[in-house]
Amino acid sequence: MERIRPIRLGVNVDHVATLRNARGGTRPDPVRAALLARAAGADGITAHLREDRRHIRDTDIARLKAEVALPLNFEMAATDEMVAIALATRPHACCLVPERREERTTEGGLDVAGQSAGLGPKIDALRAAGIRVSLFIAAETAQIAAARALGADIVELHTGAWCDALAEGRPEDAEAEFARLRKGAAEAARLGLEVHAGHGLDFETAERMAAFPEIVELNIGHFLIGEAVFVGLPAALATMRAAMERGRAALKGGEAA
Ligand code: PXP
Repeated sequence: MERIRPIRLGVNVDHVATLRNARGGTRPDPVRAALLARAAGADGITAHLREDRRHIRDTDIARLKAEVALPLNFEMAATDEMVAIALATRPHACCLVPERREERTTEGGLDVAGQSAGLGPKIDALRAAGIRVSLFIAAETAQIAAARALGADIVELHTGAWCDALAEGRPEDAEAEFARLRKGAAEAARLGLEVHAGHGLDFETAERMAAFPEIVELNIGHFLIGEAVFVGLPAALATMRAAMERGRAALKGGEAA
């Protein structure tokens, strides 16, 4: 049997900044949350600098890079402005996401297949600077193939539709989305892409994603920060980590996800 790889937990601190910005000022500080997450065993920090700066600000990105000794996964729209910021910041990885001003959160995956001409030079520029490039996509064959063709290192599979279907009590949709993720993770890994997943994950859904042998990183924000309000960030992280390890342990028993 193939060796089971460890699974990493990337903690998205955007929503600490959301809370800060609700009042203005400096508190709560997303960098403090990142430091606490590191102390509690996070493997990486994720932050999305949106075009409208609604949560994370430019100074947060600079401080996360300078002050937190963990790989920074810089989520960004594929714009010239963001590429310039990434090249100046040199994060460990950039995750390219679609962005629409009016959305509350990143709603769909990046249309890599439809935008390859525009994305290609941006991916090349980031990779030439030694930054790993991740593309946040729906688990669709055409998108995965396009990500591979453009030379991306990683695909992050969008778990939002699956999580929404579960939360809204649509079991058939959830089943179909789960099957799509299952197939997409296998296809991406077969093409040599590193496979991550994220969006809308909670303890249960993270456990199930961790039981996909191809997935080596989950990026989780909103649920974790919400839990932290009640139990504290270290406790929320510890429970999340335990859930992920349970998912991984299922693989050791030879069970498929
Ligand atoms: N991964 C990507 C690419 C995202 O855009 C987001 C949301 O910012 C997440 C993961 C985390 O999603 P959530 O906050 O729902 O856990």
